[in-house]
Amino acid sequence: MRRKLVAGNWKMHGTLAENTALLASVVAGAQGLNCDLAVCVPFPYLAQAQLALSGTPVHLGAQNLSEHAKGAYTGEVSASMLKDFACAFVIIGHSERRSLYGETDAMVAAKFVAAQAAGLTPILCVGESLQERESGVTEAVVARQLDAVIAVAGIAAFARAVVAYEPVWAIGTGLTATPAQAQAVHAFIRARLAQHDAIVAAGVVIQYGGSMKPSNAAELLSQPDIDGGLIGGAALVADDFLAICRAA
Ligand code: PGA
Repeated sequence: MRRKLVAGNWKMHGTLAENTALLASVVAGAQGLNCDLAVCVPFPYLAQAQLALSGTPVHLGAQNLSEHAKGAYTGEVSASMLKDFACAFVIIGHSERRSLYGETDAMVAAKFVAAQAAGLTPILCVGESLQERESGVTEAVVARQLDAVIAVAGIAAFARAVVAYEPVWAIGTGLTATPAQAQAVHAFIRARLAQHDAIVAAGVVIQYGGSMKPSNAAELLSQPDIDGGLIGGAALVADDFLAICRAA
């Protein structure tokens, strides 16, 4: 039985003062929830979040990492550094990383492997652009993104990973995939993994991301293959984030 996972992706938002309030509210509201919870914060706030979340049911995550273990990589952050701050999760291959920072499928696969080597659970983001959806290649794009990681990490690695389906056209736009549109791609992702290993596929948590909010969360999360959410904008408002968690 898969347990739902709701993770906040704060992106490049926050201040020490804002985070103190947001983290306190999330922790207070997290008690007694029947799902897993995480917040993925900007690197400089890992220590702050680690302290605030220690001993609570809310897990800590980061939004990116280096594919390298250590060395002369100015400005980069390694998986073991994230472990030092008690991160459990790290987002890999978010569409903003792929489109704005040139992350290729190969880099994403290398980061996935680096995360797992340090004991972090990668949240692997996949998803198509609007143009790709309109030209009917959604499944081909998602398959390519998944296959690139399976080829390098192996299917067994997905027993220790989360997949997030995030249609690029739905991220931060207010446009949400309909529950049926999302479910169709989630089922496709699970089937693609099942071609390699049916047991791993049945167990993997597949989150939806892209303008998930309190008003649409329950319907999305009631779909059979939608196992949680990766939440951007709504994760910055404690009441909204917690309402989504309650829906899960
Ligand atoms: P959004 O972002 O919820 O603001 O659309 C989701 C994401 O990019 O992970």
